[in-house]
Amino acid sequence: MANDQAPLGSMRADQVADSGIRRLTPGDLPRVMELERLGHSHPWTEGIFRDCFKDSYRVWAYVSENELVGYTIISYQFDEAHLLNVCVHPTVRGMGVGRKLLQHAIAVAVEDDLACMILEVRKSNRAATLLYRSEGFKQIGVRPKYYPGPSGGEDARVMELQFT
Ligand SMILES: CC(C)(COP(=O)(O)OP(=O)(O)OC[C@H]1O[C@@H](n2cnc3c(N)ncnc32)[C@H](O)[C@@H]1OP(=O)(O)O)[C@@H](O)C(=O)NCCC(=O)NCCS
Repeated sequence: MANDQAPLGSMRADQVADSGIRRLTPGDLPRVMELERLGHSHPWTEGIFRDCFKDSYRVWAYVSENELVGYTIISYQFDEAHLLNVCVHPTVRGMGVGRKLLQHAIAVAVEDDLACMILEVRKSNRAATLLYRSEGFKQIGVRPKYYPGPSGGEDARVMELQFT
């Protein structure tokens, strides 16, 4: 079943329409690639995003005045939601878009009966780490040299939010 037609989706997508969150679609990818290149030192390729339009993923866009200004990509594996990417256009950072996307992804994962959300974040990424902590995520480990970067790579914090 295409992601657009997932049974849990259409009602919820309508409910959040006013808040500016809707499903990401393949038609959004040119704009997503623009944001991705602005947001990450090692951006995903378009092919990676294309692989995320599957049943086992939840992909959300934040739209403001008809323009996509943020997105998040979540993969479902067993009872875990894995937050793989969240990115907000630099001109609207600090205005609550990242938090709204994260809260929406968590709310949907809870509705989908998952047990927790996990993610990796660069140790140097203070803004994202503070966002995750403020939503209740706890650090549960470190993956050494998980991210590409100077001096052989950068460690990732592994963070988790238990839903119950
Ligand atoms: C991380 C990111 C998604 C946050 O999105 P945002 O829309 O700017 O965040 P919000 O406005 O919702 O802020 C939520 C919280 O994040 C933290 N935060 C956001 N920007 C911050 C900054 N510049 N410095 C410190 N904390 C910051 C704060 O805790 C903030 O809560 P507060 O406003 O109550 O203080 C955004 O900075 C981004 O796109 N960064 C580049 C991509 C990236 O690093 N993604 C995450 C790793 S995959």
